Amino acid sequence: MTDAANPVAGLEPSASLSVEKVLSVRHWNEHLFSFTITRPASFRFRSGEFVMIGLQGEKKPLLRAYSIASPAYAEELEFLSIKVPDGPLTSRLQKIQPGDDIYLGRKPTGTLVADALLPGRRLFLLSTGTGLAPFISIIRDPDIYDCFEQVVVVHSVRRVSDLAYREELESLLDGDPLVDEQAKAQLTYIPTVTREPFRTTGRIEKLMEDGTLFAGRVAEPHRFDPEHDRLMLCGSMAMIKETAEMLDKLGFTEGSNAKPGEYVIERAFVG
Ligand SMILES: Cc1cc2nc3c(=O)[nH]c(=O)nc-3n(C[C@H](O)[C@H](O)[C@H](O)COP(=O)(O)OP(=O)(O)OC[C@H]3O[C@@H](n4cnc5c(N)ncnc54)[C@H](O)[C@@H]3O)c2cc1C
Ligand SMILES: NC(=O)c1ccc[n+]([C@@H]2O[C@H](COP(=O)([O-])OP(=O)(O)OC[C@H]3O[C@@H](n4cnc5c(N)ncnc54)[C@H](OP(=O)(O)O)[C@@H]3O)[C@@H](O)[C@H]2O)c1
Repeated sequence: MTDAANPVAGLEPSASLSVEKVLSVRHWNEHLFSFTITRPASFRFRSGEFVMIGLQGEKKPLLRAYSIASPAYAEELEFLSIKVPDGPLTSRLQKIQPGDDIYLGRKPTGTLVADALLPGRRLFLLSTGTGLAPFISIIRDPDIYDCFEQVVVVHSVRRVSDLAYREELESLLDGDPLVDEQAKAQLTYIPTVTREPFRTTGRIEKLMEDGTLFAGRVAEPHRFDPEHDRLMLCGSMAMIKETAEMLDKLGFTEGSNAKPGEYVIERAFVG
C-alpha cells in the first residue's frame, strides 16, 4: 500500500521485481545524482548492462531503465541519474535517502558489453550526459583491460559541474581495489564541456576532427581504424545517430549480442 506522506513506502516484491535498500546517495549538482543499493545474491549482470528500477506509483510500480554504473563483481549496485524536474520518476527519486526501499528488475540486459564487440586493441567509450554510467561500470571491471590494450573514456557535458565522477576519472581510478594498476597503465579520460569555458571544449565530433581524441598517451594512429579500434556509444540519440553514420562510412559495423561487431550503441534516454 502506498503511504501518501511517504511516497517510497509500500514496495512489494514480485516475479519481475525485488525490493532493495538504498545504501548511499551522492548529489553532483542540481541536475545529477548517484546512488547505491543492495544487490540480491541472485542478481547477475554483465558490466555495461541496464535494468529497470523504480518506486511505487499510484496503482503499479513506476519503473525506468537505468544503466548499472558498478562493475559485475561489485557487492552493491550503483546508478547515475538525471533529475528531470517534472519527470514522473526522477522528481521523486532525487529525494531518496539511505534506508529507503527501491524496486530492482530481475532481468538486466543491454548491448554495451564486451561480448558484443570483436577483439581489438583500442576501446573508445563515447558518452554524453548520463550516458557515462555504463562506462563507469566497464572501466571498473578488470576483464576489459585484458581485452583491450587501451581504454579511452570520453564524456561530453554542457557544464563543468555535469562532469560526474570527474575526480575518480582524473585520478585514473586511484585506489580502486581491482583495477588500480591496470587503469593507471591503460585508461585515458577525456572530458569536454560544451557550454562553459574548460580545458577541452566542443562536441565529440569536433574532438574526432581536431585529433583531441587521439592526443596525449593514446597510441597511434590518430584516426579511427576499423581493424583495431572498437567503440561503444551512449548518450543523446542525435550524438549516437551522427557518430554511427560517421563510423559506418569508415567501414565499421554495428555489433549486437547475437553478432559482435566493431561498435555498439545504446540511448541514454528516450526523447
Ligand atoms: C536503455 C536506457 C538506459 C537508461 N539509463 C539511464 C541512466 O543510467 N541514468 C539516467 O538518469 N537515465 C537513464 N535512462 C533514462 C531513464 O529511463 C528515465 O527516462 C529517467 O530516469 C527520467 O525518468 P522520469 O520518469 O523522471 O522522466 P521521463 O518521463 O522518463 O523523461 C522525461 C524527459 O526527460 C529527458 N530525459 C530523461 N532521462 C534523461 C537522461 N538520462 N538524460 C537527459 N535527459 C533525460 C527526456 O527528454 C525525456 O523525454 C535510460 C533510458 C534507457 C532507454
Ligand atoms: N545539464 C544541464 O546543465 C541542464 C540544464 C538545464 C536543463 N537540462 C535538461 O536535461 C536534459 C539533458 O541535458 P544533458 O546536458 O544531460 O544532455 P544533452 O543536452 O544531450 O547534452 C550533453 C552533451 O551532449 C552534447 N550533444 C548534444 N547533442 C549532440 C550531438 N548531436 N552530437 C554530439 N554531441 C551532442 C551536448 O553538447 P551541446 O551543449 O553542444 O548541445 C553536451 O555536451 C535536457 O533535455 C535539458 O532540458 C540540463
